[in-house]
Amino acid sequence: MDQFNYRNGELFCESVPVARIAEAVGTPTFIYSAATFRDHYTRLAAAFAELDPIICYSVKSCGNLHILRLLAELGAGMDVVSGGELFRASRAGFSRSGPYDPGKIVFAGVGKTDAEINEAIDAGIGWFNIESEAELANLIRIARERDMGGRKGEAPVRAALRVNPDVDPKTHRHTATGKRESKFGVDLERARSVFAEFGRNSLVRLTGFHLHIGSPVMNLDAYVEAITKTLALIADLRQDGFTIDTLDIGGGFRADYEGPGSPSYADYAAKIVPLLHGQGLRIILEPGRTISANAGILLARTTFVKHSGDKEFVIVDGSMTELIRPALYDAYHFVWPARPGVGFVPDPRGKDIRFPGTKLVDVVGPVCESGDFLAKERALPPIKRGDLIAVFTAGAYGFVMASHYNARPNAAEVLVDGETFRVIRRRENYADLVAAEE
Ligand SMILES: Cc1ncc(COP(=O)(O)O)c(C=O)c1O
Repeated sequence: MDQFNYRNGELFCESVPVARIAEAVGTPTFIYSAATFRDHYTRLAAAFAELDPIICYSVKSCGNLHILRLLAELGAGMDVVSGGELFRASRAGFSRSGPYDPGKIVFAGVGKTDAEINEAIDAGIGWFNIESEAELANLIRIARERDMGGRKGEAPVRAALRVNPDVDPKTHRHTATGKRESKFGVDLERARSVFAEFGRNSLVRLTGFHLHIGSPVMNLDAYVEAITKTLALIADLRQDGFTIDTLDIGGGFRADYEGPGSPSYADYAAKIVPLLHGQGLRIILEPGRTISANAGILLARTTFVKHSGDKEFVIVDGSMTELIRPALYDAYHFVWPARPGVGFVPDPRGKDIRFPGTKLVDVVGPVCESGDFLAKERALPPIKRGDLIAVFTAGAYGFVMASHYNARPNAAEVLVDGETFRVIRRRENYADLVAAEE
């Protein structure tokens, strides 16, 4: 599923040894594989081809401009959740004068401001994914004011109502979004009254539904349940004379955090495609991590190895400021040295692997928080100062969640393509830390 492999005792990204990147660019650095991005996107698109969906890549998962362009070249649209992400998408080329169609942008988020809404209408995005009645009423007000403000005849704004189908995706409590009490969307009963009130508005055409039940969702039946419930609602509303032409089923698809074994795209498609085929709906997908997670690693260098009580700590120059998922979600990321030494290859990727000669260690960063760890109680080969450590499946919700805590400049991002690599975001320096204050 990805292009990070050990060859002759050394970790490569595609055809480039990651140690060579560390020499050139330093650490900590996010390293992405272009071939993996392409492979994930094209295989997902192929699995769902029968539905001819618009695949709106979730910018929030990994939003570097070069990655957005790489996916746009393959036909992707963009899923954005803020004015900043919309700006990223337009800088990547999704604009009226750019190479990519801004009509393939969907804009979700529970708290869109008036400024963000106006920017999105100006940009000509495809759909607003609406999270509440209050938001929809506000969108209609803005559309009316624009229409009366001398811009008559603007194309109507399109909207899809986000519903909570009340399913349990069995994922982390912070990433489950489809339960009835979620802050996202409205429950199915409420959706009917939203359509009764707003479903015939001429300035904002409410003709779609949006779902996103959580992530990652490895329980395929959760999708089936959510979609089935929403289709029943769509059928009822159509009977009442409403036009419903779009269904956005969100993201949340697989990523291999704990080694191979998560469901394949074909598994998702086998469950989802038959439900949606022939329903007269334009289908939108919003995949994020399934495309980006296994397409990136965080490469860090060991600063010290330290013993405290019975514990051994490998202190590296990467931390929660680069990758907060372990601290925030207790997330598991496979961690292994870039040059593990004789006897520790090939790549043993997978949870709970025990190699003879390994030792249980915690891999931690230098940040002043005991929550600053990348891996706990892991059986690793002997590590010494200077060794490079790779944190796998770090392409999604890695760099995008980075902070400057402890005044740490943000890491560099590097994109490998075949035998070459290039810096797609330079490492920040100390001046960057204070630039907005001077
Ligand atoms: C509305 C919406 N769509 C798509 C996604 C992408 O999810 P994933 O990266 O798991 O595919 C998210 C993630 O939070 C989301 O909230």
